[in-house]
Amino acid sequence: MSQAITSVLQEHRIFQPSEHFRRHIGPIHVPSMDAYRQTHARSIADPESFWGEVASEYHWISPWSKVVEWNLPDAKWFVGAKTNACANCIDRQIDSGHGDEVAIIWEGEPCAPDPEVRRLTYRDLLRETCRTANALKSLGVRRGDVVTIYMGMVPELAIAMLACARIGAAHSVIFGGFAPPAIVDRVHDAKSRIIITCDGAWRRGQIVPLKQNVDDACAKLPDVEHVLVVRRTQSAVTMKPGRDLWWHDLIDSQSDTCPCEAMDAEDLLFLLYTSGSTGKPKGIRHTTGGYMVFTAYTAKMTFNLNPDRGQVYFCTADIGWITGHSYIVYGILPNRVPTVMYEGAPNSPREDRLWSMVARHKATHFYTAPTAIRAFMKWGDQHPKQHDLSSLIVLGTVGEPINPEAWIWYHEMIGSSRCPIVDTMWQTETGGHIITPLPGCVPTVPGSCTLPFFGIDAAIVNETGEELEPNKGGLLVIRRPWPGMLRGIHGDSQRYFDTYWSRVPGMYVAGDGARRDERGYFWIMGRIDDVINVSGHRLGTMEVESALVSHDAVVEAAVVGMPHEIKGTGIAAFVTLAPDFKGATGDALRRQLGEHVTREIGAIARPDMIRFTGALPKTRSGKIMRRLLRDIAAGKESTQDTTTLEDFSLLAKLREGDE
Ligand code: WTA
Repeated sequence: MSQAITSVLQEHRIFQPSEHFRRHIGPIHVPSMDAYRQTHARSIADPESFWGEVASEYHWISPWSKVVEWNLPDAKWFVGAKTNACANCIDRQIDSGHGDEVAIIWEGEPCAPDPEVRRLTYRDLLRETCRTANALKSLGVRRGDVVTIYMGMVPELAIAMLACARIGAAHSVIFGGFAPPAIVDRVHDAKSRIIITCDGAWRRGQIVPLKQNVDDACAKLPDVEHVLVVRRTQSAVTMKPGRDLWWHDLIDSQSDTCPCEAMDAEDLLFLLYTSGSTGKPKGIRHTTGGYMVFTAYTAKMTFNLNPDRGQVYFCTADIGWITGHSYIVYGILPNRVPTVMYEGAPNSPREDRLWSMVARHKATHFYTAPTAIRAFMKWGDQHPKQHDLSSLIVLGTVGEPINPEAWIWYHEMIGSSRCPIVDTMWQTETGGHIITPLPGCVPTVPGSCTLPFFGIDAAIVNETGEELEPNKGGLLVIRRPWPGMLRGIHGDSQRYFDTYWSRVPGMYVAGDGARRDERGYFWIMGRIDDVINVSGHRLGTMEVESALVSHDAVVEAAVVGMPHEIKGTGIAAFVTLAPDFKGATGDALRRQLGEHVTREIGAIARPDMIRFTGALPKTRSGKIMRRLLRDIAAGKESTQDTTTLEDFSLLAKLREGDE
């Protein structure tokens, strides 16, 4: 199990839904625990009628013949129905007379020469999306194609996604912090022939060279036909004739109207690559109808969204991750509450950037990650205290277990002790929230994500699938499909089955260890596979190991998580060096290896600690003893049985540090 930051604060208080929330949120969707329990029970006992009712709140071109068809590991939702996810985000709001309301509030990097705030109404969004959709068609993009998007946090990113959805092309968004080799793997796996990017992205007054990274990747991607480039930073870029096109040249001349393709509910909406236990990221497949219904409905209930009540929803995630897909774009726009996007970094130009945004835009909802909260705490209370945060009604967290210190600080300093905190547990694979408090009814306990969402039959079981008694740690599973569930791993159905459905037959195994307490609340204990959660971003230890061994100096590498004050989990790497490099140990080589990993994957994968060793501890069968390395990285005395260690003296050496 990966090691999350250990908490010193013992916090057993129970926080009841707040009066402030009741007074300011508007209609409360689930007002009592009885209502929660009854609805949850009904959603499990009769998912067909439950999800049928929920789905009928959204726009469909033609209805389903069956709500769910389940033949594990495959499930189909809203069988035979036709819809379009873009229409549900945009057209539906215009058709119901709300076209002039704000859909997206975007704030650019303040250090850019042209800092600006853009407010796009649904009508603006429709016009831009249609033009982009027509432009993509003019490049030969057809229904069923996969378009890769590698951009900074600019409105054109959301527009590009919605344009793909409109014409039935799937998108594959790659986080802008990934390096060229990571782009190559993803574009290649998705067989994408079009990439949309920006000349660069602003971050802390600096320019991230996105187009240059795409050019470097394209050297290894002969099948890429076009690169569409949004001008954002005005930086000098090379445009390859015939392949590269400026967004404004192509899009400005397009027609403002473009019909929505009637998509089958089970047509692919997008791929999103995420890390798993192997060195190769997997393309998680999400389809149209189920994902659309699940994200819009979870957003509505978890954040208690209400249109016409002046709500402004602000999620600090990057759209390159699932949180941004589901809870900046697809889940929020159908709820007709403005969604805030920002470019840049939370501590630039100053550490009060986000609080200044909350105050200026009068955000009612703020959704971020525990790692960010720990950074806010470190930066100091003076930053939030400078700003009027009284507009806030609901706070949320996602990405990793939250330590009680961070929870209490968030509650008191940001929420003035009167905003419920929804600790939302979910994954790229689940599409949306699976375990989360509902703010109007579920009492919260710092560190627990509380109770399953409607339709989620979550349990803690042992390896044979038997449910465990309270407070016994086990595997977190979901025992029946839900609409937002992944529909597979792109191009690898065997891996899909092996990863999620084979460990406990008939159940979805999330990959997290967890327990349930006496009141039925879930406590997530951490990943049980070789995935670590670094600053709330998911990374495979094998990916980092592969990057390290691709450096000439490295023969073998073992990467494990270690407790980290801000990141939650940091990256510890143990490496053995090639003979030529022996003696070249020390900080210079550590720096070189760190830079190498940054070039191979991206800065998020750069190890926090690199330790050189003559050999890695292995069992007699040759398996690296990771648990032992985790203990060493955490500076703990190992409690693990080391009788199978090949070389006992190695343990002592690793503890001492470098050889
Ligand atoms: C972890 C992010 C505890 C968990 C949406 C999961 C959490 C992984 C929480 C998925 C939470 C996410 N409490 N752990 N509230 N939310 N996790 O795919 O280990 O980037 O399996 O999706 O993050 O990460 P992913």
